Amino acid sequence: DGADIPPLKTDQVIVAHRGASGHAPEHTLAAYDLALEMGAEYIEQDVYSTADGVLVCLHDTTLDRTARGPAENCSGSVGSKTLAQLKTCDMGSWFNETHPDRARPEYVGQRIPTLEEVFQRYGREVNYYIEIKPGLDLTPPSVAQRLLDLMNRYGLREGSVQRRQVLVQSFIPTVLLEMRRLDPEIPLIQLMQPFTTNAATMALIAGYSFGIGPPVSDVSASLVQQAHGLGLAMHPYTVDEPMDLERIAGYCVDGLFTNFPDRYRAVLEAN
Ligand code: G3P
Ligand code: CA
Repeated sequence: DGADIPPLKTDQVIVAHRGASGHAPEHTLAAYDLALEMGAEYIEQDVYSTADGVLVCLHDTTLDRTARGPAENCSGSVGSKTLAQLKTCDMGSWFNETHPDRARPEYVGQRIPTLEEVFQRYGREVNYYIEIKPGLDLTPPSVAQRLLDLMNRYGLREGSVQRRQVLVQSFIPTVLLEMRRLDPEIPLIQLMQPFTTNAATMALIAGYSFGIGPPVSDVSASLVQQAHGLGLAMHPYTVDEPMDLERIAGYCVDGLFTNFPDRYRAVLEAN
């Protein structure tokens, strides 16, 4: 499908996947800070509700891979812990153990951030790309409602509506449809599971979503053209190798998720 690749479009956005998570422990303030230093336009948050109803930033459903600390607080499902329990966990040491070549002493003792702490730290200066993850806490208000409340409290709704300062993403269509019911103007991104991205599904998604986030393995130049024909932005996940970054950027995507914002920045600047 690479035969007719159009010239690289340079108005592509860099979405720092879990922060600059190739260089620093994912979903820590250190990873978000570094992503912004590297020129990412968006920092990504995956969010769950804690047992006591606080939105926190973590990718996995469980703490086991990325948390170190007392087993009763730092293993098992994130949704079964209170915020006080989670705040005892060290979210950086695993990275130093796993990636000794990229280890830094300051990563030890990084704490799980609440979404509110992230909004407090970066305010309206940055763009957020927030994924609502399926969690254990189904007590109202929903995670979508709580996210919206936080966006309103921190003055982010207006920027979201007017210039996509906050994009809300989910794999679950009903979550996005609920967000749309709560506030029809918030721009949404429908994430796709592998092998599900095609013209028919995209036509449905175009009815409620600003854009689509397919796995990079589903993406071709013609798929990008089809998405654009339906008025959908396309942000594939997750692209890390320089040759892949160059190739996917060449498909005229509207941006992409990467663990290495610096590499994508270099590709965009070279074109
Ligand atoms: O949100 C885009 C991408 O992050 C989806 O996959 O599993 O990394 O959340 P995951
Ligand atoms: Ca995600």
